[in-house]
Amino acid sequence: MIRIIEVGPRDGLQNEPETVATETKIALVDALSHAQVDEIEVSAFVSPKWVPQLADALAVFQGITRQEGVSYSALVPNMHGLERAVEAKVDRIAVFTAASESFTRKNINASIDQSFGRFVPVISNARELKMPIRGYVSTAFYCPYEGRIAPKSAAQVIQRLFDLGVDEVSIGDTVGKAKPDDVTALLSLLPKELLATRVAMHFHDTYGHARANARRSYEFGVEIFDSSVGGLGGCPFAPGASGNVSTEGLVGEFRDVGAPVRVDLEKLAVGRRIMEQTLNRKLGRPCRPDDEDCA
Ligand code: HMG
Ligand code: MG
Repeated sequence: MIRIIEVGPRDGLQNEPETVATETKIALVDALSHAQVDEIEVSAFVSPKWVPQLADALAVFQGITRQEGVSYSALVPNMHGLERAVEAKVDRIAVFTAASESFTRKNINASIDQSFGRFVPVISNARELKMPIRGYVSTAFYCPYEGRIAPKSAAQVIQRLFDLGVDEVSIGDTVGKAKPDDVTALLSLLPKELLATRVAMHFHDTYGHARANARRSYEFGVEIFDSSVGGLGGCPFAPGASGNVSTEGLVGEFRDVGAPVRVDLEKLAVGRRIMEQTLNRKLGRPCRPDDEDCA
């Protein structure tokens, strides 16, 4: 079974120039819950000076109506973030680093080594609290500042996160430049037994390769994918990056190849319409014309 991690409320809304109202975020998360995605990345407990758009993370968690069978997660960069996440009763936290030094510095004001230093207490405390932990590796294929990243370098950072004790690693194509052969090059360096249950792929769709990349990852054995409703998304610290692969498009892609996914696309469309009205723009064409079940 494919697991869909809906990152629109976090990856999507962190990148909008205008801060979206807390009630709208709550309505979006509730709509996504009804669509039965497996997990919703609701927000980020990062510095509000760095990402003011998500300063209301606690209020959003307190306002949502949780649905059985859906997990509610958030980004956590340090111990202060973990304390806030615990208060919000987050189901799973995500620490985040990158395969490129320059991006890590721009994104979290640290070197890769320093980012791991920050994770040590976060991970050991989360473990004591029995909180599952995801780790992100951004710029795993290309960096907006350094260009192409050697697959070996990305694989080393991924392995380091597993060694530190995360349950799952999400591999990020932050700028959306990767092609299927880049995916093969990286996944073939990772232990095969981890691919189905402990590796996730996080594709941004800047150059339109995200669906093909997801398909290649699936053929390689990966079954966990990040996506965002309507293809919202981007990173304020990665110039040129566009939205995530849309959840609608990804679900359509997997249904095309007969892979089971449980998302209800009609209900997902409620969330997409909330965001279209709020942002006053059409979100990316989510489906191909022959995707009948996409409202
Ligand atoms: P810093 O400025 O080096 O840290 O930021 P600091 O410890 O000096 O703190 C500065 C101020 O922030 C202090 O406040 C702290 O209290 C406060 P002041 O004393 O000046 O009033 N602070 C916090 N406040 C609330 N919650 C916290 C927190 N931590 C510090 N957790 C830091 C370092 C990591 C905090 C900062 O760089 C940061 O928050 N960065 C987040 C950047 C971010 O969210 N980027 C986007 C997400 S990553 C992404 O999009 C990629 C991904 O989608 C995958 C992919 O696509 O590849 C995941
Ligand atoms: Mg992202």
